[in-house]
Amino acid sequence: LTTPSPGKPRVDTLIDGERLISRLRTLARIGARADGGVNRQALTPEDAAARKLVVGWAREAGLAAETDAIGNLYLRHTPAGADNAEPIVSGSHLDSQPAGGWLDGAYGVIAALEAVQSLKENGTALSRPVEAVAWTNEEGSRFIPGVMGSSFYLDRLSIGEIADKQDPDGVRFGEALGELLASTPDLPVREQPRPIAGLVEAHIEQGPILEAERLTIGVVEGVQGMRWMEITVRGRTDHAGTTPLRQRRDAMLAATAMVQALADALHDPDDIIRFTVGRFIARPGAPNTVADEVTFTIDLRHPDEDVLERSTEKIRRTVAEKAGACDADIELQESLKPVRFDQRIVETVASAASDLGLPARRMVSGAGHDAAVLAQRYPCGMVFVPCHKGISHHPSEDADEADLIAGAAVLAETLRRLASD
Ligand code: GLV
Ligand code: MN
Ligand code: MN
Repeated sequence: LTTPSPGKPRVDTLIDGERLISRLRTLARIGARADGGVNRQALTPEDAAARKLVVGWAREAGLAAETDAIGNLYLRHTPAGADNAEPIVSGSHLDSQPAGGWLDGAYGVIAALEAVQSLKENGTALSRPVEAVAWTNEEGSRFIPGVMGSSFYLDRLSIGEIADKQDPDGVRFGEALGELLASTPDLPVREQPRPIAGLVEAHIEQGPILEAERLTIGVVEGVQGMRWMEITVRGRTDHAGTTPLRQRRDAMLAATAMVQALADALHDPDDIIRFTVGRFIARPGAPNTVADEVTFTIDLRHPDEDVLERSTEKIRRTVAEKAGACDADIELQESLKPVRFDQRIVETVASAASDLGLPARRMVSGAGHDAAVLAQRYPCGMVFVPCHKGISHHPSEDADEADLIAGAAVLAETLRRLASD
C-alpha cells in the first residue's frame, strides 16, 4: 500500500461518490422507460419533477436555489466574503431524448451539485461563489432548436421569439414553459443573467474513444460545429387509385429522393462529416392520398466551419435539383460554429486529472453542449468520462460507476482551483 502524499487531492475526499450514484439512479426513475432508458423531454411534467427533486437536494445541502424566465436552475454556494465575486459555474441539462439514457445531461447536473455541495461541506477555502446549473431544453428533441437555456443566457434568443414554437403534438413552447415555471412557485426568479468567471461542464463522452483507449478522463479542448435545417417539400394531394403518376406532384417521392441524394453528396471518405435526417413527417398522412407536404430535419456537423459552409451549399443544390414538380424550401434553425475552449480552463482540467492520478487524453466533442454556446462569451471547458461502447441517445446508454465518480472528483477539483484564484 502506498500512503497518499498530503498535498495531492484524492477522489474519495473531494466528493461523496455513493451520494452521486444514488442521486443519479433516483433521478433516472423520473421518465423511466420500460426498456431501461429515460424519456424526460424538455418542459414535460417529468422535466418539472426532475427539477423539483434536484432543488430539494440543493436546499437540503444549504445551497441557494433560483430560476429564471426560461426555467434554468441555479444552485449556489457563496463562501464568506465572496458575495460580489463572479461565480465559477458548472452544469448540464435534465431533459433527455425521447429514447434517451440516464446519463446524457443528468450526469453533468448531478456531478455539479455533488462538487458544489462537497466544496461547501468540506469548508474548502474559495474566493468565488460556485454554482451548479441545469439549462432548459438542451436536447431540442421536443421544441426545436436545442441549447435554449444557455442561448437565452447569452441573449442569443428571447422567449418572445420562441413562444409560439410547437412540439409535434401542437403544444406551444410558451404554454409548456408557463407550466414548468408554475411547478416551482417558491423559487426566486432571476431577472438578469449574471456574468460568469468560468464554466466547466461534465458529461459522458457519447462516443467510443475513451473506452477504447482505457482512459478515465477526456479533457475537452473544443466542440465541432453544427447546423440544423428543416426542409419543407410541397406538392399536391391526389387520389392514390386514380391519378396517373405523371400528373402527380408527389412530395413524398421528391423528399425521399432528396434524402438519398444528400447522403451521397455529403459522403465523406474520412467519415468526419456527420449528416442525419432524424425527423421525417408526411401530410396529410393517409395511405390512399398522395402526400402534399413533407418536412424533414437535417443535423449537419463537422469540426471545420468551411466544410459546414460548403456542405450547406451542396444541400441547397441537391434539394433544388431533386424537387422535380414540387416546391422546396430550407429553413436554417440553428447554427453553432466550432468552438475552442478556454486554454486556462483546459489546462486546469488536465492538471486536476493528472494530480488525481487518472489516465486522460485531450479530445474534441462530437456532441453539442451548453458549454459550447456559453463559450461564445465566457471562459469554458468540459470534462468527459467514458460510456459503454460509446452509446448515447439510446436507452442502453451506460457508464462505470467508478468513472462517473472519478469525473465528478475531477470536476470538484477543477472548480476548487478556478474558484480560488
Ligand atoms: C446533443 O444532444 C446533441 O445533439 O449533440
Ligand atoms: Mn447532453
Ligand atoms: Mn443529448
